[in-house]
Amino acid sequence: MTVESVKPDGIQASGLREPPLAGGGVPLLGHGWRLVRDPLAFMARLRDHGDVVRLKLGPKTVYAVTTPALTGALALSPDYKIDGPLWESLEGLLGKEGVATANGPRHRRQRRTIQPAFRLDAIPAYGSIMEEEAHALTVRWQPGDTVDGTSESFRVAVRIAARCLLRGDFMDERAERLCVALATVFRGMYRRMVVPLGPLYRLPIPANRDFNRALADLHLLVDEIVAERRASGQKPDDLLTALLEAKDENGDPIGEQEIHDQVVAILTPGSETVASTIMWLLQVLAEHPEHADKVRAEVESLTGGRPVGFDDVRKLTYTNNVVVEAMRLRPAVWILTRRAVTDTELGGYRIPAGADIVYSPYAIQRDGRSYRDNLEFDPDRWLPERVKEVPKHAMSPFSTGNRKCPSDHFSMAQLTLITAAVATKYRLEQVAGSDDTTRVGITLRPHRLLLRPVAR
Ligand code: HEM
Repeated sequence: MTVESVKPDGIQASGLREPPLAGGGVPLLGHGWRLVRDPLAFMARLRDHGDVVRLKLGPKTVYAVTTPALTGALALSPDYKIDGPLWESLEGLLGKEGVATANGPRHRRQRRTIQPAFRLDAIPAYGSIMEEEAHALTVRWQPGDTVDGTSESFRVAVRIAARCLLRGDFMDERAERLCVALATVFRGMYRRMVVPLGPLYRLPIPANRDFNRALADLHLLVDEIVAERRASGQKPDDLLTALLEAKDENGDPIGEQEIHDQVVAILTPGSETVASTIMWLLQVLAEHPEHADKVRAEVESLTGGRPVGFDDVRKLTYTNNVVVEAMRLRPAVWILTRRAVTDTELGGYRIPAGADIVYSPYAIQRDGRSYRDNLEFDPDRWLPERVKEVPKHAMSPFSTGNRKCPSDHFSMAQLTLITAAVATKYRLEQVAGSDDTTRVGITLRPHRLLLRPVAR
């Protein structure tokens, strides 16, 4: 027993309480089997057990935070950092020196380097590429065809990220290769993160060979992109130039490995998250024709029939609210983790140094305690007069604090534009074989989205 020995009423010597143990654990496996079997339902029910609860994952104790206020406190507190088993397996695959997994002074320096490319006033420079890609999507589709919503969403997301942030002559062809590589890597990565059976993934079976080939191609592509930019001698005003010119804490140029890992660390979260959100937006347009019609009406009242453009985006308030509501109900990033760097507290509960903490934006954003008609798809809840009802930190799909997604404006602009472009040109229907139930992976997305575009 340590000095923090537990008093009979659960209050410890420090005056802080031990969080209650969540119900439903089983001997040996604890709550792990529930997390694997139905993670979304499990996370959504945790608040019934307390504001902070303990979970047993085998022999390990993990803390789960269940209220909007405490997720905000966690994200904003300096007592926690990015770390833990999930991050370690990510680093093993994608590299150790990128912004998404760095902490402390290195993380602050890396954020300063990438931030200008994502600032609100930098976004208009990407407008013409976003427009081109949004319209290319609708031109590629033919009325009556069956469209694979998964690969189409992935393609447009990767192409926009690659073409906007890493400008280059061959980016068109490279973006196609990036799509294939990233799609395969993401499929295999989640499995490797939640079921870390190392040797199994080295067996020479087709799934492992595909994964290894895709991962190698991703790293090779990034090397090619960097080498080509260097050889060109050009310095366009983009993220890649910012990375190539970046200096470390001593004022020296950053190393090759860090440049490489940074490009990977930006492309990977930037494609899967946006792609999954586009899939849900297409699903919403198919499942809620009444909202699709309103989006179309809003766009047409603004454009009078000309193709919707980037400059229209900030005036498309209803379309924007459809995007926000889709992100509330199906947040791409459904689980987040932190590790305590010191003995600390959350909501009056003791959190020991080294503890892993999880929370779920999915659970928070669907909670009936925060939202009236919580499971209804209602874009109007984001109208200025109603948005006040939403508790602080109850809607945070891009997170908050020092790890907040740098790309919120960049993402919202493209998501709104794509939704507007698709809804004005087509009505969407799901076809036989489509399965829009939620597939849990690194992000949430529909299992298999097959759509028929019908000309308006
Ligand atoms: C971080 C969500 C798009 C790059 C994050 C985090 C969230 C998030 C929740 C915080 C993770 C944490 O707290 O642990 C999203 C969503 C997106 C999106 C929902 C779109 C719908 C993008 C795009 C890019 C991007 C397009 C880049 C092109 C990053 C990076 C980080 C990050 C680099 C790490 C930031 C850091 O650790 O300082 N994102 N993201 N994201 N996102 Fe995004």
